[in-house]
Amino acid sequence: MSPTPEWVMVGGEGSESYKKHSSYQRALVEAANEKISEAISANLILDLVSNWVCVADFGCASGPNTFVAVQSVIDAVENKYRRETGQNPGDNIEFQVLFNDLTTNDFNTLFKTLPSERRYYSAGVPGSFFDRVLPKQSFHIGVMNYAFQFMSKIPKGILDRDSTIWNKDIHCTGFNNKVKQAYLDQYSVDSKAILDARAEELVPGGLMLLLGSCLKDGTKMSETYRGIVLDLIGASLNDLAHQGVIEQDKVDSFNITLYIAEESELRQIIEENGKFTLEGFEDILQPNKESSEPKIFAASAKAALGGILTAHFGEEGMIKAFELVEAKAHQNFTRIENAKSGMQYLIVLRKN
Ligand SMILES: C[S@@+](CC[C@H](N)C(=O)[O-])C[C@H]1O[C@@H](n2cnc3c(N)ncnc32)[C@H](O)[C@@H]1O
Repeated sequence: MSPTPEWVMVGGEGSESYKKHSSYQRALVEAANEKISEAISANLILDLVSNWVCVADFGCASGPNTFVAVQSVIDAVENKYRRETGQNPGDNIEFQVLFNDLTTNDFNTLFKTLPSERRYYSAGVPGSFFDRVLPKQSFHIGVMNYAFQFMSKIPKGILDRDSTIWNKDIHCTGFNNKVKQAYLDQYSVDSKAILDARAEELVPGGLMLLLGSCLKDGTKMSETYRGIVLDLIGASLNDLAHQGVIEQDKVDSFNITLYIAEESELRQIIEENGKFTLEGFEDILQPNKESSEPKIFAASAKAALGGILTAHFGEEGMIKAFELVEAKAHQNFTRIENAKSGMQYLIVLRKN
């Protein structure tokens, strides 16, 4: 079996880059801005951050969304400081921002495009957020935007044709209970590993802000926009295998290390982990709707998933797959338009 390919967004600033196709993810941070401010105002103990504040973004990609997220945190800390001390934070607090992502992330684009007016020192932290990437008690506030949905590996049995949980789809569609349970079990292990690592790295009382999409309880992944994206990629890969462009074995050995949890599953994972107090679980209404226009549908799927497909099928297979995805998006226009909505969340965690 080939090793699990790493998720990495398409880098650079070109027309096919993640940078150009991530406005949906950015819109969540923008829509959550006020709630982020309220969460920091209510939960941050100012004594912890008297002279300097370290903010870390886990799964930052190549920008620019990460700049919006960290600025939102910094603004909130400054406002709280101003309100509670009557002093100007500019004279008294220094900010350090740590940008974490996989070593294969395009950190060059990230650092080349750092906002010129920023008022923070920056550093890159390469490495997998499933493990420790920082020293103990070394940051105050962490953010993860659209990065709390990954798994470190495909659950055992999912790729084994002889197993009772063999999954012919490329992701957890939600329609096979045993497959869903296997994905949930692996996801629980991995997300608890993320929480364990962050709990060690955060100062006592420090905060983690998780932003992303989850499913409303009872909704199945394939009923949602993102599930349809994955269904159409899977169907396109199977078509390419039938045409002999890629090997069927390659398609069968490909599954996506992603699990979009239901709201109650996320709550249970956090509670069972026990390292954090759940201070808020906000349903964020964001104005952007994901596009059902076939070209944009395929292009944004390619910006997020092109890297992982290239790693498994090579560049030609990836390009052909997304050409088919665009054609299938035309055929499935009504299904895409009528996709059930997921829930965009802001989860506020305070380290116990
Ligand atoms: C959907 S993107 C979100 C990027 C950014 N936070 C945003 O709001 O646009 C997910 C990011 O998580 C990163 N990622 C995935 N697995 C990771 C891991 N194990 N460790 C660190 N970063 C990871 C990917 O490389 C990617 O940049």
